[in-house]
Amino acid sequence: MRYRLLSAIAFSAATKLAEAAPAAASYDYIVVGSGPGGGPLAADLARAGYSTLLIEAGGDEGDNPTYADIGNFNEAANDETTRWDFWVKHSDDPARELKFEHTTWDTGDGTFYVGLDPPEGAKHLGIQYPRAAVLGGCAMHNAAVCALPAEDDWNIIVKKTGDTSWSADNMRKYLTKIERNEYLPAGNPDHGYDGWLATTVGDASWAKNSSLPAVKILQKLASLTGQDPSNVAQLVNTDILENVANVDEKVSFYNMATHSDSKGKRNSPNNYVRATVADPAKYPLTVQLHTLVTKVIFDNATLSTKPRAIGVEVLEGASLYKADPKHDSSAAPPAPTQILAKREVIISGGAFNSPQLLKLSGIGPKDELTKFGIPVVKHLPGVGENLGDNYEGSLLAMGEAPVEAGLTTLLFRTPNAPDKRRNIYTWCGAFSFEGFWPGFPTYHGPTQYTCAMVHMQPKSQAGTVKLRSANPQDVPDINFRFFEKNGDQDLSELVEAGKLLRKAVAAASDTFVGPFEEKHPCPGKLGEEGCADAVQKEYYKTQAYSHHATSTCAIGADDDELAVLDSKFRVRGVAGLRVVDASAFPVVPGAFPSCPTMMISAKAAEDIIAEAKGKSI
Ligand SMILES: Cc1cc2nc3c(=O)[nH]c(=O)nc-3n(C[C@H](O)[C@H](O)[C@H](O)COP(=O)(O)OP(=O)(O)OC[C@H]3O[C@@H](n4cnc5c(N)ncnc54)[C@H](O)[C@@H]3O)c2cc1C
Ligand SMILES: *[C@@H]1O[C@H](CO)[C@@H](O)[C@H](O)[C@H]1NC(C)=O
Ligand SMILES: *[C@@H]1O[C@H](CO)[C@@H](O)[C@H](O)[C@H]1NC(C)=O
Repeated sequence: MRYRLLSAIAFSAATKLAEAAPAAASYDYIVVGSGPGGGPLAADLARAGYSTLLIEAGGDEGDNPTYADIGNFNEAANDETTRWDFWVKHSDDPARELKFEHTTWDTGDGTFYVGLDPPEGAKHLGIQYPRAAVLGGCAMHNAAVCALPAEDDWNIIVKKTGDTSWSADNMRKYLTKIERNEYLPAGNPDHGYDGWLATTVGDASWAKNSSLPAVKILQKLASLTGQDPSNVAQLVNTDILENVANVDEKVSFYNMATHSDSKGKRNSPNNYVRATVADPAKYPLTVQLHTLVTKVIFDNATLSTKPRAIGVEVLEGASLYKADPKHDSSAAPPAPTQILAKREVIISGGAFNSPQLLKLSGIGPKDELTKFGIPVVKHLPGVGENLGDNYEGSLLAMGEAPVEAGLTTLLFRTPNAPDKRRNIYTWCGAFSFEGFWPGFPTYHGPTQYTCAMVHMQPKSQAGTVKLRSANPQDVPDINFRFFEKNGDQDLSELVEAGKLLRKAVAAASDTFVGPFEEKHPCPGKLGEEGCADAVQKEYYKTQAYSHHATSTCAIGADDDELAVLDSKFRVRGVAGLRVVDASAFPVVPGAFPSCPTMMISAKAAEDIIAEAKGKSI
């Protein structure tokens, strides 16, 4: 296998390397960031014959079992090899921030303190928001859950821009294009079998054993959500990626799909990029690892008309970004170098880094740029605004004995949801998941039982990613402003969801695994009622967590001042520059953004190639 992976630092495996990137080398396309947005796009452009440079700040951990074996996802998200720590806020209220039970502090002696009672002199960092700087991006440390957005989450782009290629119907074809389904017999029209992205599901056969306490929970969930309790063994195998009419109104158990293969190996853009580099067809893809892109450069002659992106400026070396726990703040940064693109620059740094990079390049709200002395290339006030995320919370209870079973996945609608669509994605099992902090998750013992919830249609997208300085090594200031708009409604939906899940878990109370002691949201003996609504609301308001940030460079209408991109991912007001990653979604795409982002990556490749060939798109 021949590798053309370029890296500024030596690889451990000598086979993988290494002509240095010549200064000012010129490629057709430069793609910045190799996650679900950028990785597949770079591979597709190269496979179409365009010379493409994929620049990634991290290294390649594709063969490292922490990343390759999907069961290790929690270790992966904690691993310093790839971890970028963003210390975020959930609100503008400092008192509320200090109520978050896993708020994190720097003790000054090289350790973190996580909790509400920090030692004297500790410095408040905030809420840890892990990201992976590595070939494959966050798809290398995520739980690989693969789900589709609600149809309206696609259709809203048609409504805003008039571009019908974004219709939910049409978008499905990108799933079938990229998918290599490993869980259903070939020929199922809802799926693809020849793509690069392996999908699989877990073994749900445990649900056939009606003497298991977990099946009592399943049956109760069924009766609470209008499903047939006698049919749970079949229902838990429902295909979560199925294409049925009014799918968003369907309340059902499903078998959770993941972007991994049936042998338990993670599958991500890392696989596709590496397969493209190694292909005997010698596609013109160059991968430059351990390189931090610091700004987009423009053709000076175009600045007074329509500024044209012609390349990027980079710093070569590992751990140059301050979010990297291995960053050495005493080391002087290397001298910047420039790399040119003949056709386009495509930014795919993710929902935090793409807006930061645009701002560093002079594209963003002019007051913010001017404040930091950054020359304004294009005033685009929407860059870094509209930050959205799913609200997540969980019901955690301790039983008397381990609850033996696989995962139960259920999509349902709380009675107080504002429309007919299901609003909650939940999965229950003998695990704990309470959000993110250094060293997460807490192992509460073998009798732990959790129903984790993802709220699918958060109504507030009032978060922001703002510069702290003009230094590209600095981490931006990130505030999600959870529940800022219609927060009471979303909190009430979470409370109702939690109540339903509590009733279901209580159904196993009189078996050998019960009674249960609830840890949260209502500490004490787990009963059907729990605690007062106001207590539960306050719990979710202060303890909700998230890890699916999106929408900070949103696609929007021509007359929308806050639109950053047009429907073809083009940055408005400039030429030769696009953003293709989770920041492009105008609204949070369903419960899990990873597969949707890989789908828009495939769409962007198609759009860009059609444009390069002079077809109207
Ligand atoms: C712990 C965790 C678990 C998750 N679990 C799931 C899940 O189960 N299912 C799901 O659907 N989603 C999950 N997600 C979210 C999902 O992984 C992300 O939404 C998705 O990866 C976003 O893709 P992206 O391409 O927008 O950005 P990213 O995946 O963040 O990729 C961006 C890449 O760009 C690189 N980069 C950034 N800036 C620069 C720069 N200036 N120069 C060079 N390179 C740069 C980064 O190193 C990174 O590799 C999870 C996220 C986390 C953090
Ligand atoms: C069903 O579950 C019970 C209780 O755990 C167990 O004793 C029994 O062996 C299981 N039956 C099958 C067929 O797996
Ligand atoms: C554009 O002009 C600036 C300021 O004169 C200069 O520093 C920069 O190198 C020029 N950029 C290019 C790509 O020519």
